[in-house]
Parts: sequence; C-alpha cells; structure tokens
Amino acid sequence: MGKGYEQDQIVNPGTGPGLEELLETNAARRRVLKAGLLGGILAALPACATRGVAPDKLLGFASVPVSTADAVTVPPGYRADVLYAWGDAIGSPAGQPAFKWDASNSAEEQALQSGMHHDAIEYFPLPRVENAADQAKSRNATRALLAINHEYTDDGLLHPDGVKTWTADKVRKSQLAHGVSVIEVRREGGRWNVVRPSNLARRITAQTPMRVSGPAAGHALLRTAADPSGTRVLGTVNNCAGGYTPWGTYLTCEENFNGYFANAGSIPAEQRRYGISARGAGYRWQEHDSRFDAGANPNEPNRFGWVVEIDPYDPQSVPVKRTALGRIKHEGAMVTLAKDGRVVVYMGDDERFEYIYKFVSARAYDPANREANRSLLDEGTLHVAFFNDSGSGTWIALRQGENGLTAANGFASQAEILVRTRQAADFVGATRMDRPEWAAVHPATKDVYVTLTNNDRRGGDGQPGVNAVNPRGANVFGHIVKWTEHGSDAAAERFAWTHFVLAGDAAHPDPARRGNIKGDSFGSPDGLWFDARGVLWIQTDVSTSVLNKGDYARIGNNQMLAADVSTGEIRRFLTGPAGCELTGCVMAPDGRSLFVNIQHPGEPASERTDPARVRGVSNWPDFRPDGRPRSATLMIRRDDGGIVGT
Ligand code: FEO
Ligand code: CA
Ligand code: CA
Repeated sequence: MGKGYEQDQIVNPGTGPGLEELLETNAARRRVLKAGLLGGILAALPACATRGVAPDKLLGFASVPVSTADAVTVPPGYRADVLYAWGDAIGSPAGQPAFKWDASNSAEEQALQSGMHHDAIEYFPLPRVENAADQAKSRNATRALLAINHEYTDDGLLHPDGVKTWTADKVRKSQLAHGVSVIEVRREGGRWNVVRPSNLARRITAQTPMRVSGPAAGHALLRTAADPSGTRVLGTVNNCAGGYTPWGTYLTCEENFNGYFANAGSIPAEQRRYGISARGAGYRWQEHDSRFDAGANPNEPNRFGWVVEIDPYDPQSVPVKRTALGRIKHEGAMVTLAKDGRVVVYMGDDERFEYIYKFVSARAYDPANREANRSLLDEGTLHVAFFNDSGSGTWIALRQGENGLTAANGFASQAEILVRTRQAADFVGATRMDRPEWAAVHPATKDVYVTLTNNDRRGGDGQPGVNAVNPRGANVFGHIVKWTEHGSDAAAERFAWTHFVLAGDAAHPDPARRGNIKGDSFGSPDGLWFDARGVLWIQTDVSTSVLNKGDYARIGNNQMLAADVSTGEIRRFLTGPAGCELTGCVMAPDGRSLFVNIQHPGEPASERTDPARVRGVSNWPDFRPDGRPRSATLMIRRDDGGIVGT
C-alpha cells in the first residue's frame, strides 16, 4: 500500500477533498492542471509531490538495460547503497556482534543480527504519528523504524561447513535467522544509516513467543502437548510479503510453512492439502526439534500459515497471529479502508491454482484511538474471489452456515473454516489462480492490482485449463490482474476485473510468451507496491533455475520496474545481482529515499548452497574472496536529492 500516503488520509478524516481525490491519475491530473487549478492543487499535494517535480510526469528516469552482471544497476543520476545485510548487527543494546565472513557466528549472535533472505519491508516514522500535526512532521522525519522479513535460510551459507554435519545448534541458528528485523534508521545528510545501539531494535524469530487471536484461538485443532490452551505459539516462519496498518503496526505473512514440517508416517488429508510431506523442504528442523515432526505433533502445522501483527514501536510487545485472516500460504496483507472505515485486507495464497482472499473487518477503524484498533483484525468476514469469464467477479463469504459451509459438509465452526481455509475455498468453488503474490491498491482510484507470478502447469495433463483471468497455458511469465470494486468501495461484494499486463519477452519466438507490455520486457511479477504519487513498482522473481536458460536469457537478472498505470507504460528501473530475486520495497514519505530488498543473490538451482561454488555465480555485495553472498536492504536515492522515479 502507499504507506505514508494511507496514513495521510487516515489521520485527516473528513477534511474536505481527500488527498486521494487530488492525487489523481496522470491523465486526470493533466486535465485539472489545464483547468487552471495548478496553485490550489499543488498546495494540497504532499510536499513530496511538489518539490522539483513536473506534476504531469509520472516516470522521468531513463530505463536501464537488462543485465546478467553480478551488480545492482540503477538509472543515471541514481545511486544504490547497501543499508542492512544478513549478519549485520541490528543494534541491540544487548550486543552488536560483527558478521564473521566464514559464517561462524553462533546462534545467539545470529539472534542479534539481521536474518537471512530479506523479503517485505515497511517504514514506520519516528516518533509515531498520533495526530495530524505529527503527520506533517513525519513526512520529513529523520528517524524511522524499518520492519524487514527474513523469509528462509540457505543452510549451505548459514554455517561454516554448510550441511555436511547436522546438529541441534545448526537448527537453532537457522530458526534464529528466520522471522523479522525491526531496526532504527536515521537520515544523515541524504543517507539513512542504521542506529546502533537503539532501544527499539528487535529480532523476531522462529522461537519468539506469540499469541493467537481471533475465531480459531484456543480451538482443539490448535492445541498441542506443549500448549494445551491453543493460544501460545513459538515463532513465525517463511515470512514473505507483508503489510502495514493505519494504526502503525506491521503485518508479516507466513508463506511456505509446510516446508519446515516432516511427517514420515501416514499424512492426513488436512496436512496434504497444505503440502506437508515426508521430508519437508530440507530444513531438517524435525531432526532436533520434535515440534516440527508433523506425525508426532499433528496440530503444530495448524499454528502456522497465518498473518502475524507486530507493534514495531513497542519492543516488548507480543506478536499476534490473527486467525480471522485465514490460514493459507500467505503472500502479503494489503490493507485499505472501506468507505465506512472498515478495514479491508487483500491477500494471495502463493501456490499454483490457489486463491485470492479479502478480509473485511466488522468494526471501523478509529483514527483517534489506537487502542481501539488493536483487535480490528480479529472480527470480520473472510472472502474468496470468483472471477467470471465476462469480466465481473464476486467475493464469496467463508462464513460458517453460509454457502454450504456447514457441519454436515465438514465445517462445524468458523474456527474450522479458518484452519482449513483452502478446503473451504475449494468447497465454495472459488477461481483457481496462477500463484497469487502481492496485492497493491492505487492511492487515488482504489483499484486493486495483484501479481499472478506464473503457473507452468496451467493447461497441463490432468490440470485445470485456461480461463479468462488466467488466459495462458504453461504460463511461465505471469501477469498482473486489476479490478475495481463496485462503487470503488473496498468492502463491496462485486467487482469488475481486467488484465493490467501479461508479462513476457517481446522478442520471444512464441507469440504466447511475448506478453503485451508497453515498455520493457520482464517475467514473473511478484512484489507490487504503489508509491504516494501512484507509480506502481513491480519486482520480479523468475526462478533462478530457469532464468539463464535459452528463452529466458534475454530478460536477464531479476529486476524492478515502474509503471504508469494510466498509460500502461512500464520502465525498467533496477536490475539485481546474479541469481537474486527482488523482494520488498518502500519509500520514505518524502519520496526521496527508496528502500529495496535483494534476496538470495547467487542462488543456484539448489537452496543448500556451497559457498565456494556460489562465489562463481554471485559474491554480492561484499566481493570478498573469503565471503559469501548476502541478502540485503538497499537504499536508493537520486544524486540531486530529488523524488525517486521522476
Ligand atoms: Fe515468498 Fe511467493 O514469494
Ligand atoms: Ca514473493
Ligand atoms: Ca515469488
């Protein structure tokens, strides 16, 4: 979401025309300027949209070419600096261990350092915004918190001898390299630096105590021998995309949680539906931590796959797993507000043929009372999307007793619907999509955009065929769908959808893989974020196992692009180092600093990398002969200090 921007409209409710109405799309903006309203409009725009900016020029940078170099490239006039890489100290007053180049930091040191494999990132101004006056000040804040996900570990790089031996210490270090960082940053000159020490610096890991809330809290399906209450869970895993609430909390999403569990016995259907397997994804935690043996502890997997809410401003706060938002392989939690102030959260379930969801809270957001918003995500209705081939769509409520979700059909309570969200969505006949990843809501129009990253099985033998919204079989390049909620109200039960773009390679020999991009070729859109000006930033994740093969070589390393959604133009802004994926991004509210996460530079086909071998693929960002590639947060700015993207 347009983070800083969303806050604007929330702390200034009902004060005449909202910024959202003034910050219109490019074409509409030109119309009002022509009408001679320039002075008034500019006075009402956020400062970031007015200083040094031609207001009718959404994209003003020179496109960068594709790249296969082990380097970050940005347009002329920009620079990208590494702010925070795996192993960097978070700045805890409890200790600031330096990163050891042979990865020999202990598990306890890792708990005070950046985790691995950065994903979503969100920005929280300091001090926290309490009112409209704070809001104005926060736009040019010189201090902030960044919340950063650490999605998973590459145990080949995490330990000095990789996975040649396997010990309880290694499992513990892996668990403590997962989760979330909350770091304090300070702007000095044009550059942000990590504040060390900071009393607000915090790591949340796969061992951090958390509370479970919402309709499934305490249900029998969430109870274990270690937690008979079904309300206390240790940790969060596979924190992929994320979100941001108007009351200043961070949402981190548990994606491929199934990979941490192994069940060597007979796997029940409930576990199979979520991909629990005999060996898991190779993390091998179950060998030294029986919690992750899904045969011995069949309910433990039910305690993962949730959206977790974290208050970054309170380092003592207990993270909360919000069960009302459903249990899926969560990819992002894009928060917006309905016209009546209720909170709406858009969410994808990232697996082939899974669904898109929407949560609508029961109560409205109260901008004057932060405490009253604490439990907004506990009560409301979860919906799943059905896309008609005609271009309309409906939101189907996953509410007990409705749409056949009854005890007779295996859904005896709302808790069961939420724990088995995928089965409930199957039952109501929702539309099976091509791997839904991030959602983004346009700050002015409120149109919703969702990345469908790819689905190489669409139309294959025994697999679902194409439909209007997922129109390509063997969809290797993915697409971005867009919809308008009825009445442009996020709480609506109907919507009208279209494709924003079919991604592809314009020079591809197969016409079906050329896509329809107006601008630079790219594949597998994943990260998606609107800045306050209404620029749609797209980040790509073409699998590194296919990226450099024949057909794909022309689109080079994974990259980040900017789109003008009013014209459809898409321009390449950044290319990442070899073998990386571009994950989250966010700007400081003044638009002059862009934070971008680079994940898994050097990743070969395997995720258990040999450091000696990987250096031949990537040694970014340190390029030390004895080092290893590190995921990192970049800070990007213009040489002249101007607005990024203009
Ligand atoms: Fe972790 Fe679906 O990306
Ligand atoms: Ca992703
Ligand atoms: Ca992805």
